[in-house]
Amino acid sequence: MTTPLATRTDCSLRSACVMEFLCRKKRNLRTAVSLTLIFATLLMLQKLITVDTNIKGIKMKNKFCGTECSSLKRKIIKAVENSSQSHGNDLALVGKPMPTEWDVSRIKCSENSTITNQAWFRRLNPKFREFVLKRHCRYFPMLLNHPEKCSGDVDVLVVVKSVIEEHDRREAVRQTWGKEQEIQGLKIKTLFLLGTPATGKDERNLQALVQYEDRTYGDILQWDFMDTFFNLTLKEVNFLRWFNIYCSGVPFIFKGDDDVFVHTNNLIELIGFRVEENKMENLIVGDTILEAKPIRNRQSKYFIPKELYDKRYPPYLGGGGFLMSSRVARRLFVVSESVELYPIDDVFLGMCLQKLHIVPELHLGFRTFGIIKRKVTPLNREPCFFRNLIVVHKLMPQELLHMWNLVQNEELICARQVVL
Ligand SMILES: *[C@@H]1O[C@H](CO)[C@@H](O)[C@H](O)[C@H]1NC(C)=O
Ligand SMILES: *[C@@H]1O[C@H](CO)[C@@H](O)[C@H](O)[C@H]1NC(C)=O
Ligand SMILES: *[C@@H]1O[C@H](CO)[C@@H](O)[C@H](O)[C@H]1NC(C)=O
Repeated sequence: MTTPLATRTDCSLRSACVMEFLCRKKRNLRTAVSLTLIFATLLMLQKLITVDTNIKGIKMKNKFCGTECSSLKRKIIKAVENSSQSHGNDLALVGKPMPTEWDVSRIKCSENSTITNQAWFRRLNPKFREFVLKRHCRYFPMLLNHPEKCSGDVDVLVVVKSVIEEHDRREAVRQTWGKEQEIQGLKIKTLFLLGTPATGKDERNLQALVQYEDRTYGDILQWDFMDTFFNLTLKEVNFLRWFNIYCSGVPFIFKGDDDVFVHTNNLIELIGFRVEENKMENLIVGDTILEAKPIRNRQSKYFIPKELYDKRYPPYLGGGGFLMSSRVARRLFVVSESVELYPIDDVFLGMCLQKLHIVPELHLGFRTFGIIKRKVTPLNREPCFFRNLIVVHKLMPQELLHMWNLVQNEELICARQVVL
């Protein structure tokens, strides 16, 4: 069940970010109050444990839950068992058995020539033409795969959309929120999703570099499609399929961009709350955007011509980062196969969710900003602001490392209350 949501439209016109906060704050006062309480409690707990570990002389970073740690894990196991008992295998619903490994070995992607002589097609610009002609091509061969990633005991799979040349960002993510570790007894594993270099880039060298990187870290999934903006939806569908083949036992997925800040401890706390509330079934939570209209400004990265889409968008999540349960991921995969690919990946997922009658839950801790532009404010550089959030868009690798260290610092004193 999701909280009733308000639209953003009345807020988005005001330029100051602070106004946006106030706008949202009013509407979501209840959530804000409970969140503040939650974080206050968290901070207190953190203090108590720090004292405790000082006495024992052990440094126990990231563990401020004592015996509660394993109890969250037990609750998750119980909830997963319960859910699979009551629903059986979702994939059986479509009567299509999943293969046991990635079984796409050739690119089967010829242009759909029946479209070319249609009038609406000829009105499109070349980028959209290319998209439309290859819209039916969904699954691609894998150049780098890690079938072993989910084997054993994995609780949260962190999945990061990246492109081949952004190794600095991946490095920063590995050192910060993408670190493979255990928090409150939950085991976190990380994967990066990549395509191949877009034409015009130094393909051979880039490929050799990324293979080297993968030999070092073993955390890259790469598919044989060109990594262009319009192909981001391919990352979505190929990953969903991959997850269903290899990761049936993993209860949670956090999906994010490689240029966001994620407060991993707060994310784990959120998982804890949703498990307690028995909300794993339809759990998909992030920066929900309602009633958005397609952008008709041709200069925008998100421009969509009327020929392609002429309605309001269904509720969708800003793709900077969101959390979902594996049950939602499984159902998304099943339903995605009957939804035509759309050039904006976030919106595509929204279309799939709509078919499942799931409204993604809005959580104020997710500041991904989606496709709606907002002003940059000094607040975006304020560690106390980050400490209370889960996901913040958009940081350069150096900023991410710096902010991570500031926020992790337990000495950080937040005199000025930065409210949500
Ligand atoms: C198991 O699932 C049912 C509904 O599917 C729910 O009512 C019940 O509370 C769940 N039990 C646990 C322990 O999660
Ligand atoms: C090609 O385009 C036509 C017209 O839009 C569509 O009906 C048909 O299903 C497409 N073919 C494939 C293989 O997707
Ligand atoms: C998407 O990737 C495929 C395979 O590499 C390529 O043929 C196609 O042109 C790409 N589409 C777009 C819109 O970039």
